[in-house]
Amino acid sequence: MAGEELRGKNILVTAGPTIESIDPVRYITNRSTGKMGYAIAAAAAKRGANVTLISGKTHIDPPSGISKFISVESTLDMQKAVMENFDESDAIIKSAAVADYRPKDVASEKIKKSEGGLTIELERNPDILKELGEIKGSKVLVGFAAETNDLIQNANEKIKKKNLDFIVANDLTKEGAGFAVDTNIVSIIDRSGEITKFPKMSKDELANVIIDKVTLLLQK
Ligand code: C5P
Repeated sequence: MAGEELRGKNILVTAGPTIESIDPVRYITNRSTGKMGYAIAAAAAKRGANVTLISGKTHIDPPSGISKFISVESTLDMQKAVMENFDESDAIIKSAAVADYRPKDVASEKIKKSEGGLTIELERNPDILKELGEIKGSKVLVGFAAETNDLIQNANEKIKKKNLDFIVANDLTKEGAGFAVDTNIVSIIDRSGEITKFPKMSKDELANVIIDKVTLLLQK
């Protein structure tokens, strides 16, 4: 669905996993591939938006047609990039799977193995989306929730806690939903509490549904 509805609008999309170093060769990450966020960035660009894509490390190429691509590693890197690009954005779609914790101390040399176990102390990363919710103003703010249990209840709580316009909740227990597949099965929950359940669809189709909703909100 190509068009010009978003001409002149700046859309910021985050995608992929963040990674948190343990030492120079090891890190903690998650199973996000970036597919969903890249599909959203592509869908927004097709409608004429200026798209900035801030992405953790992925194995896929940035979509054509986007205006700016920023590659990041850690959650703190992502936070910095998002904050630097926040002011000029009309809508922010946070589909990145952000690491909630990082090793408290990053070893400057590779940790040598020994006979015993190894304990790595983790500390909290900032919740970027929650921080954006606090300064959102009239910008459109969209979050994702990937859950293995109490999907709708958790998503509802996140909308309030993070001050979002809507949240895309995917149930990781369903086959064809979530990480590393080309399809997703989601419910979209509005600020008003309205829940729309979608059947299994491709991430490209879902990206268009999300961009339709963002377009409507931007026109209000
Ligand atoms: O709380 P949870 O991680 O499930 O929330 C998911 C949403 O919050 C996603 O949109 C994700 O990009 C964002 N998030 C964030 N910073 C974090 C954790 C999650 O921006 N530290």
